[in-house]
Amino acid sequence: MKKRIPVLLDGDPGHDDAMAWVLAKACPFLDIKGITSVAGNQTIEKTTYNAMRVCTLLGIDAPIAMGRPMPLLCAPRTAGNIHGQSGLDGPKLPEPTMQLSPLSPVELMAKVLRESDEPVAIIPTGPMTNVAALLLAHPELKENIRLISFMGGGIQSGNWTAAAEFNILVDPEAADTVFRSGLPLYMAGLDITEKALIFPEDFEKIRAVGNEVARVVADWLEFFYKFHREIGYEGAPVHDPCAVVALIRPELITYEDMYVEVEKKGQYCRGMTVGDQKGVLGNKPNVHVGMKIDRDGFANLLLEAVKTFDSEGK
Ligand code: BDR
Ligand code: CA
Repeated sequence: MKKRIPVLLDGDPGHDDAMAWVLAKACPFLDIKGITSVAGNQTIEKTTYNAMRVCTLLGIDAPIAMGRPMPLLCAPRTAGNIHGQSGLDGPKLPEPTMQLSPLSPVELMAKVLRESDEPVAIIPTGPMTNVAALLLAHPELKENIRLISFMGGGIQSGNWTAAAEFNILVDPEAADTVFRSGLPLYMAGLDITEKALIFPEDFEKIRAVGNEVARVVADWLEFFYKFHREIGYEGAPVHDPCAVVALIRPELITYEDMYVEVEKKGQYCRGMTVGDQKGVLGNKPNVHVGMKIDRDGFANLLLEAVKTFDSEGK
């Protein structure tokens, strides 16, 4: 078996964050070292509680640290219209069986980075508040970061404003810090995540697997799809798992190396990820941008992942 890659999962679960964690837990060569919650899809209290419930369901046995209630510099925004009042509406989930870590996300991530023999991959699937705070507080630990594979942004369009995608819009200053970090960055933006559609017939294949995780994932997909169907999608755009695909099945994604900046000031474009697609600026690319995804391969990966859980869910 391949050597296991230590990973930190940072997110705001959220239906698609939870499905990203399903992929990560199911992959035998990822070793989940810590979970950090961030305010985004819902308040930090709700995303943290959801993180604990999801980890209980999936049998993820790693410390969980609760993030701060606010982005680095601006007011928070939530996405209750998509993820519901709890941030993870839909199927009933088990109550958490673990305690929260006494550490902050920065302290937890720093501890994991310091103690790891191997460089650690960070997978942010929400606003990048925690990751930016880590980079600002501990620049000396950068060399222990293997890569950052995140869901956020979009070169062609936004989804929360015409220009901006939700995760980047919620904390553009944090995203900017990450984009300027010089670290290897893999971007799963709307250019691929809106093509990573899971169709109603896929929901049923997943449900038919028959274990507890399969049932919950199928219900999450149905809940998540309801909102998207009303605005014209043919399937659920399951954004966040695409950030995990970069590590476990990179051949499903076609990346283009690009110089990308985050708009922090624009009247209409705050939170936009401005990609220099033609290289007119002559700057060295700073991001591997996902531009194409093998949709069928992706749907199959999710199906195979739910099969790895036992009948109880773990
Ligand atoms: C992103 O926004 C959130 O609502 C999802 O969880 C995903 O991370 C998509 O724009
Ligand atoms: Ca998310």
